[in-house]
Amino acid sequence: MKAELICRALEREKQSGATLDELLASAVEKLHGSNTRFHWTGIYELFPDGMLRLGPFIGAPTDHVFIAVGQGVCGTAVAERRNINVPDVRLAPNYLACSAATRSELVVLIRHEGRIYAQIDIDSHDHDAFDSQTVRQVEQVAAWLATAWAALAPERVGAEEG
Ligand code: SME
Repeated sequence: MKAELICRALEREKQSGATLDELLASAVEKLHGSNTRFHWTGIYELFPDGMLRLGPFIGAPTDHVFIAVGQGVCGTAVAERRNINVPDVRLAPNYLACSAATRSELVVLIRHEGRIYAQIDIDSHDHDAFDSQTVRQVEQVAAWLATAWAALAPERVGAEEG
């Protein structure tokens, strides 16, 4: 499924009254099903105290329910305010292992107008699973979620980028 179709489906759910949490869970489900190389797909929400907390996910349960900004690939993405594509997690010094089978990981920030609300985290058992087209698709879904987040749950403030 293409990102455009995922966003269109999410938009329909939003118009029908879905809450932000329902939309996040639905986005995880749709993204996970969109690519056979996605073996773990989840969303971490960023809290103002500098902690990421695991939200909806599909895949093996992980010990990393809370991740501090600056820790692991997920926390580094927030600290450096950038999306991170790790082709080989064995070579990432700050990597926090979720599953021994994971070989590559993609973190895409959910950010809107100078604020980081959350991030999409995807693990794959395949080496270098995330090509530029795949990254763009995930970024498109993240951008849709960021706009929906700001509209539906502005009180869940995430953190300012500045
Ligand atoms: N690998 C991540 C931790 C989260 S699990 O992959 C679900 C990291 O290094 O931050």
